[in-house]
Amino acid sequence: MCGIVGYIGDKIATPMLIEGLKRLEYRGYDSAGVAIMNGNGVETRRAAGKIARLESAIASNPPHGTLGIAHTRWATHGPPNEQNAHPHVSQNGKIAVVHNGIIENATSLKAGLEARGYVFKSDTDTEVLSHLIETAYAGNLEAAVIEALRQVDGTYGIAVISSDEKDKIVAARKGSPLLVGIGDGEYFVASDASAILAHTRQVVYLDDGDIAVVTRDGYHVLDLDSVIREKPVTRIDWDLAQIERGGYPHFMLKEIFEQPTTVENTMRGRLILEEGFSKLGGLNISKEDLLAVDNIIITACGTSWHSALIGEMMIEELCRIPVEVEYASEFRYRNPIVTPRTLCIVISQSGETADTLAAMREAKRRGARTLGLVNQVGSTIAREDDGGIYLHAGPEIGVASTKAFTSQVVALALFTLKLARLRDLSVARGRAIAQAMAKLPEQIQSILDRAEEIEQLAEEFKRATNFLYLGRGYNFPAALEGALKLKEISYIHAEGYPAAEMKHGPIALIDEMMPVVCIAPHDAVFDKITSNIQEVKARKGKVIAITTRDEPSLAGKIDYEFRIPETEDLLTPILASVPLQLLAYYIAVKRGCNVDQPRNLAKSVTVE
Ligand code: AGP
Repeated sequence: MCGIVGYIGDKIATPMLIEGLKRLEYRGYDSAGVAIMNGNGVETRRAAGKIARLESAIASNPPHGTLGIAHTRWATHGPPNEQNAHPHVSQNGKIAVVHNGIIENATSLKAGLEARGYVFKSDTDTEVLSHLIETAYAGNLEAAVIEALRQVDGTYGIAVISSDEKDKIVAARKGSPLLVGIGDGEYFVASDASAILAHTRQVVYLDDGDIAVVTRDGYHVLDLDSVIREKPVTRIDWDLAQIERGGYPHFMLKEIFEQPTTVENTMRGRLILEEGFSKLGGLNISKEDLLAVDNIIITACGTSWHSALIGEMMIEELCRIPVEVEYASEFRYRNPIVTPRTLCIVISQSGETADTLAAMREAKRRGARTLGLVNQVGSTIAREDDGGIYLHAGPEIGVASTKAFTSQVVALALFTLKLARLRDLSVARGRAIAQAMAKLPEQIQSILDRAEEIEQLAEEFKRATNFLYLGRGYNFPAALEGALKLKEISYIHAEGYPAAEMKHGPIALIDEMMPVVCIAPHDAVFDKITSNIQEVKARKGKVIAITTRDEPSLAGKIDYEFRIPETEDLLTPILASVPLQLLAYYIAVKRGCNVDQPRNLAKSVTVE
């Protein structure tokens, strides 16, 4: 979604804001703008396209001032062009607003304002806010903002400035993430900490209904009744290097190659090898309550939903508890069966995905206990869940999720191990799984050491127009994930399918032009996928097989083979996903795609 950053201090604001926007660009990158308090009033500059376009547009004559707000956009209302870029300014030119979210009743509010003579210059819902605040303004900006927000339905993270109060930024949050950064004699507002990490690690996360008033001397937080709210200050433990590319051509490749370390970090201090057990300090649930759980719902979106499917199989196989996996966007609007003995596991890299957050709140409202598997520390899901497991995978900047996925599956395996051993899983079986988990980092490294093989494979298939990914059991979700990676960064149409399901339709797509990736580790269902590979080969499909050993039964039936180390069946998706991430990456690079910021996508989907 959109990215917001604001600055007030002694330094020239424009370069600070542009630098902050660049760090938020993964949130949305179709247009950008700044509004600077230049001593006379509010001066705005906007440009369609990437932030570099805005930067060059203002380079010759940058607005001058030590207070400003800025925005990078992911379009929801109105096409990505300069006219719809933020900030949006009120009719009297005094108030500027940047907004992340959706004003659901914008149409009716707009009609009311037009009836009062307001003329709209953009197609956005956000412009309604700038005019509404003007209508409510009576000398105090936060009061006017509160008055305007009382009329608004929908979600927002906003920052507002007014030339009548030249030393103040008012920020407000409902649904979209926003924080205040506390610097040394300077203050920031931002959608996430990466925008301001170069200047401070001290942040105040805003919650729904918070209004922050930030001035040169400090900040305070109000609620919508203008009552002061005390907020904790959190120290960010990420460092700048973690949000830099570190010499890699793309964040995605850096994050793929970080996986031996990130998987290690997810297990650090949690895996107890000798007992075949795991220790999870943040679950915040007693052993008795955990054992009283009689059904589990796992809800998520996108890649996180794929890891949920793997979690379902792990928990059902080893813990013998029924598990339902739910698309968060569907779960929140249907009438699901949830009881106080339901555990709702919520998976989200960003911890801010609107549908997943709403699904968690709905499960909670129906009495479930909630457990968040989240990467972003301090995110809304992490702050609102009953307990959680942080992934410790570090910041994930590339829009296509990679290291978060493998860490999500590892975190689900840790949770499964704990619950299964608490129930009736033998110590021997637990130890075998724990020891296999401990080997994952070196096994992933051994795959990365042969990335070139995948790069050559990508050369073969860079012009493909379609791809099919097949897997069985634990690797059906890995097939879905492989297909998603290719789709989202190379724009090639790809589908993941349970291998046996192929006969019921998709097999019609197969001919000598169709590459078919078959995930075929030597696991419990290997014999079955062998026959599916034969079915593909019989239709001249190009078979790319991910295998774990020499398979005489596959001789002459596969065109390309990539070997991955053998491990426990439930862990194979982790190893099988790495070559599929690389295949998608290299094909996208060879097609000249913007791998880190694929078209139409955003890293964290904070609107419905
Ligand atoms: C994955 O590569 C995509 N970026 C997207 O599907 C993502 O997984 C989805 O939006 C969920 O995000 P979350 O894990 O931050 O909630």
